[in-house]
Amino acid sequence: MMKTIFANSKTAAHILRCVHCGVVQSSADRMFRCQECGELLEVLYPEWSGAGREFGLRLREIWRERRAGTLPEDASGVWRFRELLPQIDHKHVVTMREGNTPLVQLTRAAQQLKMPQLFVKHQGMNPTGSFKDTGISVAISMARAEGFEFVCCASTGNTSASVAAYAARAGMKSIVLLPAGQVASGKLAQAIEYGAHVLQLQTDFDGCLRVLQEVVQRFPAYLLNSMNPYRLEGQKTVAFEIMEQLDWAVPDHVVVPGGNLANSSALGKGFLELRDLGLIRTLPKISIIQAAGANPLVRSLRENGGTELIRVNAETRATAIRIGNPASWRKAVGVLKTTGGACEDVTEQEIAEAKAELGAEGIGCEPASAASLAGLKKLVKSGFVKASELAVLVLTGHMLKDVEYMLDRQVKRVHGPMAADSNAVIRTLERLHAEN
Ligand code: F0G
Repeated sequence: MMKTIFANSKTAAHILRCVHCGVVQSSADRMFRCQECGELLEVLYPEWSGAGREFGLRLREIWRERRAGTLPEDASGVWRFRELLPQIDHKHVVTMREGNTPLVQLTRAAQQLKMPQLFVKHQGMNPTGSFKDTGISVAISMARAEGFEFVCCASTGNTSASVAAYAARAGMKSIVLLPAGQVASGKLAQAIEYGAHVLQLQTDFDGCLRVLQEVVQRFPAYLLNSMNPYRLEGQKTVAFEIMEQLDWAVPDHVVVPGGNLANSSALGKGFLELRDLGLIRTLPKISIIQAAGANPLVRSLRENGGTELIRVNAETRATAIRIGNPASWRKAVGVLKTTGGACEDVTEQEIAEAKAELGAEGIGCEPASAASLAGLKKLVKSGFVKASELAVLVLTGHMLKDVEYMLDRQVKRVHGPMAADSNAVIRTLERLHAEN
């Protein structure tokens, strides 16, 4: 049954394998589903898998040298690792220096949790303000290599902003389906500004994704949602960057919010590949945090050990992860099981508090991203994460994506309007000082 056919010459050196039944196929159809069982596919590189530590160490050197390079691919925190990506002709690569995001050590949150080794990897510092750029850069380059004019996605907002921007860079047209009234205004404004065809549907994200899958069968647009396995190839590079930034000391824990569950899957794939190349010996435990109102993975693990997905009607103010029927759930279960990570959900209140705490130490992020700190707090409390361990929280989106969220909660911290007079200002400052 296991037939192995290499993909066409534009994409040599990788194959696609079903994550469920293991069948290998040469190329994907428009839906990026297994031709046998309909599950998702993953990209494998038979050429280097099993190549060993010496090959890995050579790559590590090359990646380091490229950081000083001037080629657009070398300046990218994704394409710098191109040995572990599908081969795409230079002229098709669409890049905006994505990746290259900071790893910042936390101070106040670290003190509160008594965890001296606590870091955030801020993926909100990507060109369009979310981790999506790393994956879209790779997948849209594939679309370009295949000659597509249109690309499309369903989105809770960030993917649409990224798709619209990268399509504009590539001279392609983008179509984005959004759940009407459920997308933070920063993200909606981005998609519009970058020139996407923005279609708001009277449904939620899950409904948009269902409709889009029908659309791509009848309209020649390339699907950029994360069922597209090339997205995950770009997104996995965050694991490579984290390891470089920690000078190859493996963190004990990496904590990431989960929505459609592709990002956690990609993160796991990245670390596994580093282990296969002999560059790390152990794996971090990768834990996934969902909002309590959008927790299909938490429920599935609790109720059937992750063998079947229990869909939910998603509801959360962290709109980025308002997803009840996640496409990549099976991949995410695999990552949790392989790395020994935990899966937790956090309340709206816990998300809001975690976000405000990060803000108070100068780290902005959007609500969905703060779920990672909220989740870590729970995991510390339960003893799953120990204070002596090194943990990295992935912050997935930029603070300015969802300004309404902050203004709704923090408006009481704005003083005035007051008289435009220094006495009024000083009186207020003295009062505030006395209150603190
Ligand atoms: N955090 C942010 C800021 C997101 O935008 C998303 C997903 C996630 C976390 C969850 O990642 O889906 O891979 O588990 N946003 C998608 C979108 C669904 O359309 O922008 P995931």
